[in-house]
This record gives sequence, structure tokens and C-alpha cells, in this order.
Amino acid sequence: MKKLVVVTGGAGFIGSHTVDYLLKNKYQVIVLDDFSTGRRENLEHHSGNPDLEVYEVNIVTRLWSKLSAILNDRPVHSIIHLAAQTAVVQSVADPIQDVKVNYSTTIEVLEFAKINNIKSVFFASSAAVYGDCSDELISEKAQCQPLSPYGINKLGSEMYMEYYKKVHNINATSFRFFNVFGPRQDPMSSYSGVISIFFDRALKNKDLVIFGDGQQTRDFVYVEDVVQNILFFLNENMSSVGAYNVGTSTKTTITELAEFIIEMTGSKSKIIHKESRPGEIIHSQASIEKLKKINKTFPNYALENGLQITTDWFREATI
Ligand SMILES: NC(=O)c1ccc[n+]([C@@H]2O[C@H](COP(=O)([O-])OP(=O)(O)OC[C@H]3O[C@@H](n4cnc5c(N)ncnc54)[C@H](O)[C@@H]3O)[C@@H](O)[C@H]2O)c1
Repeated sequence: MKKLVVVTGGAGFIGSHTVDYLLKNKYQVIVLDDFSTGRRENLEHHSGNPDLEVYEVNIVTRLWSKLSAILNDRPVHSIIHLAAQTAVVQSVADPIQDVKVNYSTTIEVLEFAKINNIKSVFFASSAAVYGDCSDELISEKAQCQPLSPYGINKLGSEMYMEYYKKVHNINATSFRFFNVFGPRQDPMSSYSGVISIFFDRALKNKDLVIFGDGQQTRDFVYVEDVVQNILFFLNENMSSVGAYNVGTSTKTTITELAEFIIEMTGSKSKIIHKESRPGEIIHSQASIEKLKKINKTFPNYALENGLQITTDWFREATI
């Protein structure tokens, strides 16, 4: 019998790739998503697949009763909790709502897992838990000083994950994603990942806007590497020790990225600079030693390879 996995936020960017991998690995999947930023199109290539059920559910309210009704006593193997309000700026504007979406839901997911004897829970945390860390290469041992409600709620969620692991014996694993990119990342919001915005604008020959001098660095990780990692932990029934950085340990300046994308797309776009945004983190580069000790082949994609696949996807999506 196939194992059943619940994915919150499964119609989103990372969520829909996670669903692809789960189905490929012969799991049955239930997606809970309110489609606030997720899209039905992200999953439409699975339409008619009896192993996938998609429910429009806002997990902030009555998650418990809604999920119980959907499951109707079916046993769940794992929950992958990806649903979130992902805009840092929005978390600053409305911290109370951010607590509900990005913190309380994690506790609800864990409580549900405890009561229903679900053994594994995976949580999408973020490099935002570190804040402006002075370390060149950020390891999991660095002191966490989040600068936004988004980062605070991710860190608080991680702490609950650890609590449920220790006290309730749930195999709870948190991954601190760095800058994830790839096909299906939505460029339409100003809060979206910089790569999707640059691709969208480059393919339309519009200027690429860099805030500040462009020397700020990011650690970009291709979405398939992120998802393969979650699946690795799931398939191997791996028990975790604290949170894991998920990046590539490679730093790229925003200027390098912009030039790269202009070259790859053959765009006529120019790079223009605007005033830097207050509170923006200057450097971000993950140490991934801890993860590589367990998942030895990680990561599989160099930035250029991931960008090439993403170029092709954006080109097709823009036609
Ligand atoms: N993309 C990145 O670079 C990155 C970096 C660090 C962490 N993360 C984390 O990874 C996870 C996935 O992010 P993403 O980039 O795929 O973003 P996304 O916006 O594409 O995915 C989030 C999904 O959650 C859904 N959702 C939001 N609120 C919900 C609610 N109340 N009820 C049900 N569904 C809800 C959205 O509709 C969407 O499908 C998030 O937890 C995010 O914080 C992402």
C-alpha cells in the first residue's frame, strides 16, 4: 500500500515540485492550499492522477477538523509543512497575521501529528532566522538574530519542531532554505525571488533593477535540490539533529546574477540601480557541511545548470 503524505502549500512554487517528486516516488499525496500565492496550474499536469488529492483549505482556521474530515481515518505517514506567508515586508506590516500563518500553523500541524500518530513532520524554515549574521559562511551554530516577524516565526516554529521531537517522539525536521529558484516561481509580486523577477523582465527587455550597489551576495539553490533533499530524509526515514541549512555554499553577487541572466536570455535589458532597501541583508552564504554528512551527493545542480533550465521554462511561459 502506498504511503500517504500531506503537503501544506503544495500548490506553491516549492510545494508543487515536492508533489512531483512524491508522486514519482510512489507516495499518495494530499495537498492543502488556500491558493493565496499557489496556483492550480502548478499541479494541472497531474490531473486525473488518483494518487493526488488537492483541497482548497486555509490552514489558519480549523486545520484540525478540516484535515480530519478529508482523511476520514486514513493513516498519514508524514506531513510536509510548506504553507506560509512568504513576504518579509508583509510580515513587518502585519506581524499578528504573520504569527497566525507562519507560527501557529506549525504548532497545529505538530499537534495533529502527535494525536494521529504521524511519525514525520518536515518544516520549511528559512535563512531569515539568522538575520544579518556577521559570519562569512553561516553554519547552523551561528547565533540566530532574525530581523523580521517572518524570521522570528520561522525560528519559533523550529523550536516547536525540536520540542515535539524530544517530548513527543515525532521525527520533526526543519530545513533552512536559502534563496530557492527554478521553474514556477512567480515573478509577479515585488516580494518574489530576485531570479524570477530578473528572468521575467529580461525576457521582456525591461530594465533589471538592483537595489544598492549590487555587491550584496546570495546563496541560490535550485528547487530540485531542495526537494530531493526533503525526499531523501523522507525515504531514508532519517532522524534529524536540529535544523539543516539548504543552500549550495556558493555566493553570487546580484550584479553577477543580473549579467548572467541578460547573457543567457540574449536580452537587451539594462541594469539600473535604485537606493538600497533598509534592513536588507548584505551577505548570505550557507555552510552545508552538516547536511552533506548525511546527504552526501547534495547539491546536484550548479547555478548555471539550474539557471539554464529556468531560462527555458520562463521562455516557454512568456510565449
Ligand atoms: N522560495 C524561497 O527562496 C524560500 C526561502 C526560504 C524559505 N522558504 C519557505 O518555503 C516554503 C514554500 O515557499 P515558496 O517559495 O514555495 O512560496 P509560495 O508562496 O509559492 O508557496 C506557499 C504556499 O502556501 C500557500 N498558503 C499560504 N498561506 C496559506 C494558508 N493560510 N493556508 C493554506 N495554504 C496557504 C500558498 O497559496 C502557496 O501555495 C515557505 O514556507 C517559505 O517560507 C522559501
